[in-house]
Amino acid sequence: MPESWTQPDEALVKVVSTLAPGHALDVGCGGGHDTLWLARQGWSVTAIDLSRHAVSKVRKLARETKLDVTAARDDVTALDAEQEFDLVSICYMHLPAADRSKMLTNVTRALKVGGTLLFRSFEASIDDAPFDRSLLPSREAVLAELDAGFKIRQADVLDEFFSYMKKQMRLLTIVAIRAK
Ligand SMILES: C[S@@+](CC[C@H](N)C(=O)[O-])C[C@H]1O[C@@H](n2cnc3c(N)ncnc32)[C@H](O)[C@@H]1O
Repeated sequence: MPESWTQPDEALVKVVSTLAPGHALDVGCGGGHDTLWLARQGWSVTAIDLSRHAVSKVRKLARETKLDVTAARDDVTALDAEQEFDLVSICYMHLPAADRSKMLTNVTRALKVGGTLLFRSFEASIDDAPFDRSLLPSREAVLAELDAGFKIRQADVLDEFFSYMKKQMRLLTIVAIRAK
């Protein structure tokens, strides 16, 4: 998690350090810091977000930097892609459980066999979360939703202090490889 929203997510940086560049999907790209960082590492990046504002910002940044980025306004719960991506990154997508489930089904389909899924979010068991707790998943819930077709490489829940929130938060990091 970046201290400033202009830095790439640290779990993403770690995962990418083990991979050769390929085609990545940044789900809910927001301001595009992960998207642009990935593209700078040599990835071809598709960035999707529901927000028109986010998509036009990322398009503008990609044009200015001439990076290999395609930004599209798309709803991940209705994403229709099949085995296109070597990496799918889902960072801080705090969705209702039914939508999270659709998202995970859709991105599983969108990953190539052997492709990597990074799921990163605040976790449900934190006390006093400054968010709607019903939108925060538990590790068990996400692992249950990733079907038997994944090899789980990492499934951590760690507490971390966020200076911009002045708060200790609980972070869930799941790294999984599509096995079939
Ligand atoms: C908390 S922001 C996270 C942005 C970025 N991934 C990050 O790590 O900073 C969540 C983003 O997901 C987008 N979003 C929410 N629901 C979505 C959906 N169903 N499909 C695509 N994007 C969605 C929001 O517009 C927002 O930009």
